[in-house]
Amino acid sequence: MTEPAPPAPGAKRDDDLEEFALPFFQLLALRLQVVLFAILTRLTDLLLLLWRPRLLVPYLGIWWAEILHTPYRARRTFEVVRALKTTGQRFRELIYGETPLMTALWFFKRAGLGRGSRLVDLGAGRGRVLIAARWLGAEAHGVELIADHVTRVAPRLQAAGITLTVGDMTREELGDATHLFTNWLALTPETKARLIERFRTCRPGTRIITVTRPIEAKGFVPLSKHWMLFTWGIEAVWIHEYRPETPALP
Ligand SMILES: C[S@@+](CC[C@H](N)C(=O)[O-])C[C@H]1O[C@@H](n2cnc3c(N)ncnc32)[C@H](O)[C@@H]1O
Repeated sequence: MTEPAPPAPGAKRDDDLEEFALPFFQLLALRLQVVLFAILTRLTDLLLLLWRPRLLVPYLGIWWAEILHTPYRARRTFEVVRALKTTGQRFRELIYGETPLMTALWFFKRAGLGRGSRLVDLGAGRGRVLIAARWLGAEAHGVELIADHVTRVAPRLQAAGITLTVGDMTREELGDATHLFTNWLALTPETKARLIERFRTCRPGTRIITVTRPIEAKGFVPLSKHWMLFTWGIEAVWIHEYRPETPALP
């Protein structure tokens, strides 16, 4: 396999993370808000896991992995550049954030996830959402592009019957899923369009949950919209059903 070429001198890097730069006090306020949300959501996660103590060890494994190596600081490592080359994505599409258990449990319940269902998280990060799916008794599988996220937690998640694999979500096999989840906040319109084409390989009736934006394409019927808490703030969550014969909404 060929190695990724270094950027040409003076060339503009494609990450453009400076676009997200904030003035000092705004940044400080945002950081405080994130810390507050982190404390709140971790406490509620722990309380919920008292009902499913078997999931507590895999969940704490995610915390432990985070203490050793934070997923929140994006690094342009060799492996990351290589992964982006294979998918044709931009560095900023890897911006990290997680879905708290309470949030995931709420929208999964609304989407009808439970025993006998199979949830696939597309862009699963370190698998926090998959723990919520197991909490409800569903099968849980995640696919994540960045191998480092996966290798740090996958063996611990496996003990709870969760599979988390390295791969490109736009090529994932979706035929046996009853529910899909994607936190696609950072994806470019091009990547979203490829993912939507992949959604079309699902069985009719599959429920698809997206964060921030709905699926705006023929065959995906929005069922409900909810405002929910994530690790970085409040976002809209959309629940859709795949009905291939339905025209796009105006
Ligand atoms: C915002 S995080 C969401 C993590 C998790 N789903 C949650 O909500 O807790 C989005 C994840 O999608 C991953 N990702 C981006 N492009 C991907 C691709 N083509 N295939 C698989 N994962 C991808 C990123 O690396 C990142 O970990």
